[in-house]
Amino acid sequence: MKRVSILGSTGSIGVRTLDVIERHPDGFQVVALAAGTKVDLLAEQVLRFRPHLVSVATEEAAKELQRRLPRVPVNILWGEEGLVQVARTEEADLVVSALVGSTGLLPTLAAIRAGKDIALANKEVLVMAGELVTAEARKMGVKILPVDSEHSAIFQCLGHGGRQYLKKIILTASGGPFRTRPKASFASVTPEEALNHPTWNMGRKITIDSATLMNKGLEVIEARWLFDLSLKEIDIIIHPQSIIHSLVEYMDGSILAQLSVTDMRLPILYALSYPKRLESPLPSLDLTTLAALTFEPLDMEKFPCIGYAYEAAEAGGTLPTVLNAANEVAVHLFLERRLGFDEIPLLIRKAMDEHGRRPVRSLEDVLEADREVRQRFTMEYSKQ
Ligand SMILES: NC(=O)c1ccc[n+]([C@@H]2O[C@H](COP(=O)([O-])OP(=O)(O)OC[C@H]3O[C@@H](n4cnc5c(N)ncnc54)[C@H](OP(=O)(O)O)[C@@H]3O)[C@@H](O)[C@H]2O)c1
Repeated sequence: MKRVSILGSTGSIGVRTLDVIERHPDGFQVVALAAGTKVDLLAEQVLRFRPHLVSVATEEAAKELQRRLPRVPVNILWGEEGLVQVARTEEADLVVSALVGSTGLLPTLAAIRAGKDIALANKEVLVMAGELVTAEARKMGVKILPVDSEHSAIFQCLGHGGRQYLKKIILTASGGPFRTRPKASFASVTPEEALNHPTWNMGRKITIDSATLMNKGLEVIEARWLFDLSLKEIDIIIHPQSIIHSLVEYMDGSILAQLSVTDMRLPILYALSYPKRLESPLPSLDLTTLAALTFEPLDMEKFPCIGYAYEAAEAGGTLPTVLNAANEVAVHLFLERRLGFDEIPLLIRKAMDEHGRRPVRSLEDVLEADREVRQRFTMEYSKQ
């Protein structure tokens, strides 16, 4: 029996993780949950899974949750400290890191420092501080197991010992909702259009990242740290059907791919059950129903965010943190209709040019760069 804490239990990944756990009552037990503000859903989860500890984003949300759970024996915390407590709770063997954006960095690090294995969905943790986080995991003997479907595919194709014979990995990208839309019309893209992803149903931030293709850029940096790769060993290809989740090419030219139905419960299940495999309730992929699997080269000119991610990863230091913070601010402003879709890459470019590269000597350098970029652009846009 694996005992599991979930950071972000009310999100798209969190809800699917609980679905997987509910179908394997002999395999997993929920010991702690953390969420933001969806108190109704969290209260239901507490009654169904009976964790000992939960955390929410604010004191008000904690009071509201307490009101909804009279006489339920659960310790309710809130804020950053609550997230950290859920992350390092003694009862857990594995922590599912499924918060969104930079919020996940400190709790995920706390879980690693407490010796918990991590099922990582929250890729921004590795984008912001990949070197620090992976060094800490190595020091603590902690496994970071990928939940992102592309990285789960790579992990599965690498198998045991495949890394030494690797030529490159190939991350697949659906191309998002604007793959065929002319770039000239990007200024008029609405949040509703950008939130309408063709193949995946996900949280709002990652859905916008998928529309700008920044998500693929973040995944390049995530893969770099998860599998200890150079950037030359990471390719991207557009595969609109999202059936092949990624591929690995070995030095002899042999290519392995992982295919499945498009459902995040599969990579979540593998991260939870690793190194075993468990039965899945999902239907098998019926290859005879697939009309075609198609591939296209990536258009970096149309989607510049990917190039920025490669550039930030190559430069290292605080530049990936800057890229991530600027992207989070830009996505937020776009969803609030205060920034055009076409302006998202411009804001990121500006942040990277202004901030430049600084060395990362400690976690404080990362947090400082993150804070600086947020303050700088939040202030600029609050004046408008
Ligand atoms: N969704 C996918 O299919 C998918 C696939 C691959 C990778 N990922 C990655 O997985 C991560 C999660 O994505 P998602 O789509 O599940 O996001 P999401 O649906 O937006 O969920 C985010 C979760 O984080 C919680 N949260 C946000 N801010 C918080 C705060 N300040 N304090 C405490 N909790 C907070 C939310 O709580 P409330 O909702 O209660 O406010 C929610 O539970 C992202 O990094 C994403 O890139 C997602």
